[in-house]
Amino acid sequence: MDAIRIYGGRCLNGQTVIQGSKNASLPILAATLLIDGVCEIENCPDISDVYHMLRLLESLGCRVEREESLVRVDTQGFSACDMPSDSVCVMRSSVMLVGALLARTGQICMEYPGGCVIGARPIDLHLQAMRLMGASVEERENGFCVEAARLKGAVLRLPFISVGATENLILAAVLADGVTVIEPAAREPEIQALCEFLQSAGARIEGSGTGRLVIRGVEKLMPVRYRIPADRIVAGTYLCACMCAGGRIFLRDAPVRHMESVLACAERMGAAVLCEADGILVTGKDHENCCDVVTTACYPGFPTDMQSLFMAVMALSGRAGRIEETVFENRFRIVSELCKMGADITVCGNTAHIAPVARLRGAIVQAQELRGGAALVIAALAADGTSIVTNRHYIDRGYEDIVLHLRALGADLELA
Ligand code: EPZ
Repeated sequence: MDAIRIYGGRCLNGQTVIQGSKNASLPILAATLLIDGVCEIENCPDISDVYHMLRLLESLGCRVEREESLVRVDTQGFSACDMPSDSVCVMRSSVMLVGALLARTGQICMEYPGGCVIGARPIDLHLQAMRLMGASVEERENGFCVEAARLKGAVLRLPFISVGATENLILAAVLADGVTVIEPAAREPEIQALCEFLQSAGARIEGSGTGRLVIRGVEKLMPVRYRIPADRIVAGTYLCACMCAGGRIFLRDAPVRHMESVLACAERMGAAVLCEADGILVTGKDHENCCDVVTTACYPGFPTDMQSLFMAVMALSGRAGRIEETVFENRFRIVSELCKMGADITVCGNTAHIAPVARLRGAIVQAQELRGGAALVIAALAADGTSIVTNRHYIDRGYEDIVLHLRALGADLELA
């Protein structure tokens, strides 16, 4: 069955090594298409979204090898052809290929990307900006074609911050003619990693980590070896697991400097957090505290990807709390499932109001997207009795073997 059975009531102890970042790996793997030769990507997470991205690269004629967490991509056999729609539609990051393929071949036709149900997630910003770079864009019912003999640098003023649009436009701009300015640019650590990867290959990018990127097109990029940084959302997930279940765990390799807003919120909620050079020591389960308001925002604000995880913690706390979701319009899918476990949460517009309850009880609940699915698992760690979280495949999109990692920390759970 595509599910996880969790026996609640066990606290967590020990250490877990944090995997490489999903949201850094995906655009960097797409960026290898801009480079003729063999790129070696270290610390690449073994998750289904990366599997689908590697399948898309192979469908484009690239040779892909994986040795544990080292992935080699050889683009010398590249031949633009139709990509398998099952991989294109199953994940949103397939849209990341548009900028890279446009820069490499001058044309790309594909179906609209799929993704989670957390919102409409259109790609209008991506396509509008590519038009400004000289591309012609034809939109059809379930897909689109973008063509440009040679992209031209342009000043791209986006109406609001978009992580994916920033990444796609960086990929389109690094080999374009002239200078491209992206403003406001997203500042996420995953975008900084993408810029680092491209700069090590010879790209000329200024302003990484700021709201204004200036990219000077170059003729060619050279093959590189690059190490993917640890996943700050996976680190935050295990932090929240410890806050739910209690105990003390060490998050080895956790990217401390990219987790400020998450760690501050965890401490306000009563967790003891000790940051060290090689990770974070967390002591959880002082639920008497609870920071009453969490508002998601673009980086360096509180990340929307951590919203469901903290909702699970707040559902167990002894005090009322409130979460405002400002990035996606439908990212409270987990509420109905947490209420099946006895949580008392009501949603009004983009705000979830969490009322205190004494305990959560085990229940059969359904993961409906990646982070909400992980949040149901960590809530079940602290619930009375047994829970079953179905649709495990959503969780596998972003987490390397969450059952194995939590069992190693002392939790009692199994595949079901
Ligand atoms: C990236 O999604 C991440 N995915 C998401 O992580 C993350 O939640 C999100 O950024 C915000 O940080 C990957 O990196 C693979 P956006 P993305 O473009 O690029 C709207 C996870 O759990 N928008 O910043 O899709 C959009 O609908 C995933 O790992 C447009 O309207 O996010 C959303 O409301 C979930 N038109 C808002 O902007 C566009 O052309 C922010 O989206 C593009 C976006």
